[in-house]
Amino acid sequence: MHPDDVRQKYLDFFRKQQHAILPSAPMVPENDPTTLFTGSGMQPMITYLLGEAHPKGKRIADSQRCFRSQDIEEVGDNRHTTYFEMLGNWSLGDYFKQEQLNWVFTFLTRELELDPQKLYVTVFSGSEKLNISHDQESVEIWQKLFAAAGCSTGVVKNPDTEGMAKDGRIFFFNEKKNWWSRAGVPDNMPVGEPGGPDSEVFYDFGAELALHEDSSFAKLPCHVNCDCGRFLEICNSVFMQFQKQADGSFTELSQKNVDFGGGLERLAAATINNPDVFATQLFTPIISKIESISGVTYDADEKSRYAFRVIADHIRAAVMLASDGVLPANKEQGYFVRRLLRRAIRYAHDLGIKQPFLTELVPVVAAIYAKAYPQVTEQQEKITTAFALEQQKFQKVLEKGLRHFSTLKKVDGESAFQLYETYGFPFELTQELARERGLDIAADDFNKARADHAAASRTASAGKFRGGLQDTSEIATRYHTATHLLHAALRKLLGTTVQQKGSNITGKRLRFDFSHDRSLTESEISQLLSQINEWVAADLPVSKKIQKKEVALKSGALAFFGEQYPDEVSVYTIGSEKDWVSRELCGGPHVTHTAEIGKLQFMKQQAVAAGVRRIYLQVESH
Ligand code: SER
Repeated sequence: MHPDDVRQKYLDFFRKQQHAILPSAPMVPENDPTTLFTGSGMQPMITYLLGEAHPKGKRIADSQRCFRSQDIEEVGDNRHTTYFEMLGNWSLGDYFKQEQLNWVFTFLTRELELDPQKLYVTVFSGSEKLNISHDQESVEIWQKLFAAAGCSTGVVKNPDTEGMAKDGRIFFFNEKKNWWSRAGVPDNMPVGEPGGPDSEVFYDFGAELALHEDSSFAKLPCHVNCDCGRFLEICNSVFMQFQKQADGSFTELSQKNVDFGGGLERLAAATINNPDVFATQLFTPIISKIESISGVTYDADEKSRYAFRVIADHIRAAVMLASDGVLPANKEQGYFVRRLLRRAIRYAHDLGIKQPFLTELVPVVAAIYAKAYPQVTEQQEKITTAFALEQQKFQKVLEKGLRHFSTLKKVDGESAFQLYETYGFPFELTQELARERGLDIAADDFNKARADHAAASRTASAGKFRGGLQDTSEIATRYHTATHLLHAALRKLLGTTVQQKGSNITGKRLRFDFSHDRSLTESEISQLLSQINEWVAADLPVSKKIQKKEVALKSGALAFFGEQYPDEVSVYTIGSEKDWVSRELCGGPHVTHTAEIGKLQFMKQQAVAAGVRRIYLQVESH
């Protein structure tokens, strides 16, 4: 089945079950200090899972574009990708296990026409430590569904010892495998974080794929969660009903939610009964183009296939990120696009591609998404220009850089720095080459300052990617409302040409980017702060309304440029309905009155890019 049809069938199916269908949120989340990219479908839904009313109701579905930078070096096997789409549906305190598992089964077997005999499921085995019992309700629902489809319904309580067991269909796993939260297992969850047991569905690509004859797997019994290659997890229903408490225990959330995620790439692979996601039509046009550029075939050998997958994944991810406005740069999100492109160029070099080729692949990716994401085609020219530049910078020095690398006996700070400065090798590329060639990375005699410099962009970006938690803590909420006041005060002071270009909040400060062509004078800064602090001291009310987008915009609400909003939006107003100082389309959360923010002080300002300024503020008590 064509992946476009998989996506469409999913959205149509859940529309029929009274779900509101949302457009994909951008891959660069707004107002989320702890993550650079949207890494799962539920990330933009977090405030609603915690109890905020969603403007579109209690049943939501979408196909969310995601990017997981931490998987960059996993790419090369038949299932890992950095960019992927997650088909998602959510019950925000509405339906629960019965409806959800029925719909999942119906969608997979009727809409995608997957053979039910090839589907296997897992459920949560319970935990004494968490005081949460095993998920018998899901077991019984699955048993009925599989029995009606003429399949076995055996429950396997200890898969690690029992393996697939005769007639095994439903497998119990503990919180290491069958618990989902953004932070992973319960112990890793921060206080306030929602999570819950889940039930995953696996597709069986055939026992002949099991590598159990292989020495590394020979002694282990195979089961759905085994990595041998026979099974692929295709989707996951999380019963998000618990919240972590300060003493480490869990209490029930005010509402029982369902958070479903199904990987489009993997579902599409199941529909063609091929365990290689790169064999789906999301990739085959890219693979064919690389074949024609390189003269090598995808199946030539294991090493070439690996290179094909890296190039295909990386170019697709880079194009999708660029279509969301992220172009190659030295830090933050742009650094990942740079890393993707340079890594792709390096692997292309292994395939014998020495001439510029990235720009030839851009239209191929755009064509794959012509129907689902026409904005990629609209931006094709801009993306091509940016990638051509990147290619020009790196491709011509790569060969010399590799030659230089081959003369090294070990990699230390000095050589890593030189590879970065002279040959544009991202630090991780140097590390990877060193690993491949069995060279020592001498950590102890790193000229520290130089090594720090070489790694600066990496750490600045990588440090932020842990966990991907949106901060809903009290201090972050105060800074979030302060951001709205700052935006309003800037526009009042400098004129309405000022537009928000981005923001970032940590527990210690807020950072705000806005369009303006020069730095602020001292007098402007002092006027700005006294205006904001006047609003804080006036203890203005902060109210939220759900409105039609047009009505909200007409009433003066500011929208964030480039963001796609649904027809109905939530609008935060600061001040009274008639006499307000700020009104913005925003998902929250916010304080209820401005005095809760506390007095703000100026920290610093910077230039970020041509015409974009950055300003930092913090609460005085810090
Ligand atoms: N949040 C869950 C996941 O990412 C289900 O959507 O797997």
